[in-house]
Amino acid sequence: MLEKLNEIQAAALDALESVKDSEALQGWKVKHTGGNSALTEVFKGIGKVAKEDRGKVGKRANEVKVALEAALTERAALIKEAELARSLEEDHLDVTLPGRPFRHGGVHPATQTLRRILGILADMGFQVYTSREVESDEYNFQHLNFPLGHPAREMQDSFYVESEGERDNPLLMRTHTSPGQIRAMREAAVGNPDNPPPIRISLPGMCYRYEQITSRSEIQFNQVEGLAVGENITFSDLKGTLSDFARRMFGAHARTRFRAQHFPFTEPSAEMDVECFLCGGEGCSVCKKSGWLEILGCGMVHPNVLQAGGYDPRRYTGFAFGMGPERQAMLRHNIKDIRYFWGNDSRFLEQF
Ligand code: DAH
Repeated sequence: MLEKLNEIQAAALDALESVKDSEALQGWKVKHTGGNSALTEVFKGIGKVAKEDRGKVGKRANEVKVALEAALTERAALIKEAELARSLEEDHLDVTLPGRPFRHGGVHPATQTLRRILGILADMGFQVYTSREVESDEYNFQHLNFPLGHPAREMQDSFYVESEGERDNPLLMRTHTSPGQIRAMREAAVGNPDNPPPIRISLPGMCYRYEQITSRSEIQFNQVEGLAVGENITFSDLKGTLSDFARRMFGAHARTRFRAQHFPFTEPSAEMDVECFLCGGEGCSVCKKSGWLEILGCGMVHPNVLQAGGYDPRRYTGFAFGMGPERQAMLRHNIKDIRYFWGNDSRFLEQF
């Protein structure tokens, strides 16, 4: 029996020498180590071997099995290497073939404009402050001098967050970025209520209004708010800052004008127009023949708002402004329909 095992091993190793590819190797494996192989036969018959020889035969059979498996592994590695070398030799890589085109992602046009605005404001010393999108009625309206039932709320119909919050203070999706003013002021005032630090921040983010969707109004849109609070801040500071902003945003020669307006949270309030950069003030379809484009709302922070933020209005003043990046992008690129922004049509988005 031991003799036979030697022969099995020798024959198998001998046959392995002439195996040259994976297919032949598979055949060799079945023939010499598979269920019908001579080696397996030996294992099956081991019970019939005389008792005193059984140990030796079993041990030797295992050795043969291990030897064949080791030889197989070694051979497999050699073959794999040879096959790789052959395919590198035979299969030529044509580096002149055109590659597969791939589509570039890009920054959304609203985000591009938003970042540009924030960049300019940052150069002017306004630090970004991000505030929450789900707000309470208190922050979104009451602290901003819109009391319950105030008619100005009509302009900002809201999405309420179902069954959350108190009856007079329900939760809603913020309708503007202005509630961040209160949060920022309160945060700053906490450290030192008697002498709160000056603030100069920009507040970017998404806002939501329950409105009819049309080419000019969407239910979600971005805003960038600005807030400066400190001692001796005047309306001249507001005008100077925003005129400078317009020159950086729309070109060194951009002319601006301020028109009186009303917002509950500022007094006095204004809107800033910039001379139409498409027609240079001549009058065109974008500026509706007026030569001016409305860019933002602004004003001196209302004493009630300062108070709500923890700043004593007898000592501190401030100015605030709010603008819409989508609106500015629409003016700049002559985009006629605001619905393109959130319509996810890549033919639109790819142009920016
Ligand atoms: N919150 C206003 C809106 O959404 C925009 C605005 C106007 C913000 C004047 C201001 C401001 O800070 O001073 O329509």
